[in-house]
Amino acid sequence: MIDNPVLLEERYGARNYAPLPMVLARAEGVYVWDTEGRRYLDMLGAYSAVSYGHCHPRLVAALVAQAGRMDVVSRAFRSDNLGAFLARACEMTGMDRALPMNSGTEAVETALKAARKWGHAVKGIADNSAEIIVCENNFHGRSIAITGFSSVSQYRAGFGPFPAGFACVPFGDAGALENMITPNTAAFLVEPIQGEGGVVVPPDGYLSDCAEICRANNVLLMCDEIQTGLGRTGRLLAAEHDGVRPDGLMLGKALGGGLLPVSLFLARADVMEVFTPGDHGSTFGGNPLAAVVGLEALDVLVEEGLIDRAAELGVYLRDRLSTLNSPAIVEVRGRGLLAGIELDPGRARAEEVCRVMAERGVLTKDTHRNTVRFAPPLTVERGQIDDAVGALAGALQELV
Ligand SMILES: Cc1ncc(COP(=O)(O)O)c(C=O)c1O
Repeated sequence: MIDNPVLLEERYGARNYAPLPMVLARAEGVYVWDTEGRRYLDMLGAYSAVSYGHCHPRLVAALVAQAGRMDVVSRAFRSDNLGAFLARACEMTGMDRALPMNSGTEAVETALKAARKWGHAVKGIADNSAEIIVCENNFHGRSIAITGFSSVSQYRAGFGPFPAGFACVPFGDAGALENMITPNTAAFLVEPIQGEGGVVVPPDGYLSDCAEICRANNVLLMCDEIQTGLGRTGRLLAAEHDGVRPDGLMLGKALGGGLLPVSLFLARADVMEVFTPGDHGSTFGGNPLAAVVGLEALDVLVEEGLIDRAAELGVYLRDRLSTLNSPAIVEVRGRGLLAGIELDPGRARAEEVCRVMAERGVLTKDTHRNTVRFAPPLTVERGQIDDAVGALAGALQELV
């Protein structure tokens, strides 16, 4: 009988991931340990899901207490903590209403459905004609609809046919958005910073220009802040850097405190009110465990001052990265504690760099544009940032 976890996963798992070889067994704060007891600094933070550090005691306590009191009951019935979670999320973000789901993908699907129904029922677009504009190089998840409007060919190849009703414009070009809008456009879906796409930061003022164009054309501005939201960029929402309040907002990842999949689609009242009972839902969305962890996560974010911390340490991280003078570095991008280091593919492959960094005790994952991404827990300290930058420098020296 096989009892090696790697062999078991290789034998019984689908091959849709290609993880690094170590097997993780324990996590605390900004560190994880493998089955051999070796410690690693986690600079990926589960793609921004572990903003509070691994196994944050307050979040674990909230989850355990709730698990011993009441588990999943479904939305067929009311539960006693969902309202408080939704209220806190709305108050903090300035949105009117929130619809709980689980994964980020589901929150985006919810936004797409809301936008289409709003387009038909409120804006007056003819039935089945509503269009949504998205950006090139986007990443919003992996459902059929979402991959259908991805510009990454691997995400689409073999998975069609895809739903119609999406148009694509270059990211960072507000004029292109304006030109693409037609009377059938219901919404514009955008990431304030493209995380998976390579930590691509648009020009200053891009989002506020888009907001103005959307307002002038009665088009909903839908911001996917699943990766950039909840303090990651040094503001509660990345849209705040441009002084923008979107009409619809998607949150996920860090909302689950690193413990559970918890996501929300939040929106203006007239957008959310298109949903009537039976239109949309999820067995697990807004379950008592998710609600209690989500509420505690929002409170921890504020009470531990993690948003300001991300702003301050983000400056430190970028300062440190700018001292690296490797010829392999093309550009350092990012905001707050979301950073991307783009490498020259002729000199170093980001995937290789991440492998060597792991050997040096620092975990992260490459992303598109041959970019090494840092998205550590917002609780990371200066000395740990120094360690991560040191491991990157060492890896570049070894490989270039
Ligand atoms: C901006 C953005 N939207 C949506 C998603 C999808 O979230 P999930 O993987 O939880 O479905 C991601 C995941 O990386 C993301 O970065």
